[in-house]
Amino acid sequence: MTERPILMFDSGIGGLTVLREARVLMPDRRFIYVADDAAFPFGAWEEDDLKAHLLDLFEGLLDRFSPAISVIACNTASTLVIDALRERFPGHPFVGTVPAIKPAAERTRSGLVSVLATPGTVKRQYTRDLISRWAQKCHVRLVGSDRLAGLAETYMREGFVDEEVVRAEISPCFLENEEARTDIVVLACTHYPFLVNRMRKTAPWPVDWIDPAEAIARRTMSLLEPVGETSGESEPDIAVFTSGKVDFATRRLIQGFGLTAR
Ligand code: DGL
Repeated sequence: MTERPILMFDSGIGGLTVLREARVLMPDRRFIYVADDAAFPFGAWEEDDLKAHLLDLFEGLLDRFSPAISVIACNTASTLVIDALRERFPGHPFVGTVPAIKPAAERTRSGLVSVLATPGTVKRQYTRDLISRWAQKCHVRLVGSDRLAGLAETYMREGFVDEEVVRAEISPCFLENEEARTDIVVLACTHYPFLVNRMRKTAPWPVDWIDPAEAIARRTMSLLEPVGETSGESEPDIAVFTSGKVDFATRRLIQGFGLTAR
């Protein structure tokens, strides 16, 4: 008998930042990575349309792959649809990815925290609720970026990124007054950790960049039963792109993450 897989979902390659952590923690698990690239970027969608689209899509994905658990490795999707997914598919466990505002509020010394995310995540009520619940004593600045997720996609395929664009996109995260300056930036889009070295390089001063990937992987592991003894060859980990188009650079990229395109 083969184990049911873990399904990891994102609009593009961002969820790979979570997959790599999950792989380290759960090397005996099978993974199915789903990139809804036909709908990329989620950050630009109207909320009602994106919600309907994701609920529909998951109907098909759960049917097709029968996963043990689904990880929504995307803040833009999770902050919109995680509750609705749990309601629609009550027997199925979902792990969401939401802006790491609570750990940032616990860790900041200056009290000035920025959350860097897609325009979708920035405008969500879910994000606002996280701030009022966990970060009342801080000043939290929400910074929406139109370009960083797309830049990360290109960077991971072609190895090129325009550092001046990175500098411009992150610059609103940095606040300074007479007593204090921003000391934490929450990476609230799973694409962004791929660009974090460029962000460090172009930041006006050093800050702590919070990447929630390991915490999400740990949460996923905690919800699963340990893997039993399996016999015979295990099936390969696969990546599914909803556009059906996988070019050479993408195939190469996902190969580097141990995935085969389907
Ligand atoms: N990776 C997604 C996130 O965590 C967003 C990218 C997009 O806009 O589709 O928010």
